[in-house]
Amino acid sequence: MRRILVTGALGQIGSELVPALRAAYGEATVVASDVRQPAGDGGGPFVALDCRDAAALATVVREHRVGTIYHLVALLSATGERHPQKAYHVNLGTLMNVLEVAREYGAAVFTPSSIGAFGPGTPRDPAPQDTIMRPTTMYGVTKVAGELLADYYHHRFGVDTRGVRYPGLISYGSPPGGGTTDYAVEIFHAAVERGEYTSFLGPDTQLDMMYMPDAIRAAMELMEADGSRLRHRNAFNVTAMQLTPERLAAEIRRHIPGLRMKYEIDPVRQAIADSWPRRIDDSAAREEWGWAPRYDLAAMTADMLANLSRGAGGAANVAV
Ligand code: NAD
Ligand code: SER
Repeated sequence: MRRILVTGALGQIGSELVPALRAAYGEATVVASDVRQPAGDGGGPFVALDCRDAAALATVVREHRVGTIYHLVALLSATGERHPQKAYHVNLGTLMNVLEVAREYGAAVFTPSSIGAFGPGTPRDPAPQDTIMRPTTMYGVTKVAGELLADYYHHRFGVDTRGVRYPGLISYGSPPGGGTTDYAVEIFHAAVERGEYTSFLGPDTQLDMMYMPDAIRAAMELMEADGSRLRHRNAFNVTAMQLTPERLAAEIRRHIPGLRMKYEIDPVRQAIADSWPRRIDDSAAREEWGWAPRYDLAAMTADMLANLSRGAGGAANVAV
């Protein structure tokens, strides 16, 4: 079997996708890579790789006989607004390198887009699968361009490119990487550690969210799906729940009744959130490859708190 390469493997998604892929396909089959070095021995192959270096990427793909690339490298929305030029090069430059190497070596590519690809002109409730895409962040600009680039490589060169538009992802493992939806992770750590959380988004700001096990399953199921059924290859809307800080706090209070909420709005991240939809329509993913989430708000919250209470997760790494 040709190997699977995961780029950006030490991030919030990669740190959970790599073990899931290894469990499904075998430890030696999955090569993890990142520009950073791992803290410990992850148990399987790891290569240090900056995906901006096209030659180094090609060497890894050739030497490890890579047949599928899960390309997770990106600067997220809030970090991207602090460093827009770098976000452009990291997000689009690395994707271009991955698509080129995939074309050359006949590899399939999974690359995630985001609800950040939408903008203030998009219908907000729900945002349809095919709609106006005029984002106002550099992150969104790179995500829309990335969707189009991946489509282009499929139609023009026959590369098997696939992807989803993830909503905000909630997990207890690696901390989130600098996004607008990070509050929905931070609140759990703060609730368990201090019983109090100060949100940087307003109490009624509604965005789509998903628990990480569903996000991992979405990526793997899409890559296993019958390609002939896929009309929207690179930008399937997927969602599981719509949260506001107050709605999430109310659910956490069912387990931690004393949780106190404060609000110190960050104008940059609030403006980003206000430019995104309140809900996305994921019926195309449901129809074309059978997507369905398994975790709703209650199930996700119970699982998050159970895991954090037993000491799982990267609480020490999370800025709350
Ligand atoms: P993350 O920030 O947690 O991880 C990204 C990883 O990429 C980091 O480990 C970082 O070290 C690495 N990286 C950065 N520059 C690199 C480079 N030049 N070469 C190699 N590695 C590099 O991000 P994540 O949350 O795991 O997101 C992965 C993908 O999913 C991104 O495309 C992101 O836009 C998308 N996404 C994430 C979310 C979310 O809520 N986490 C939501 C929607 C979409
Ligand atoms: N969670 C991501 C962010 O907020 C969405 O793509 O940037």
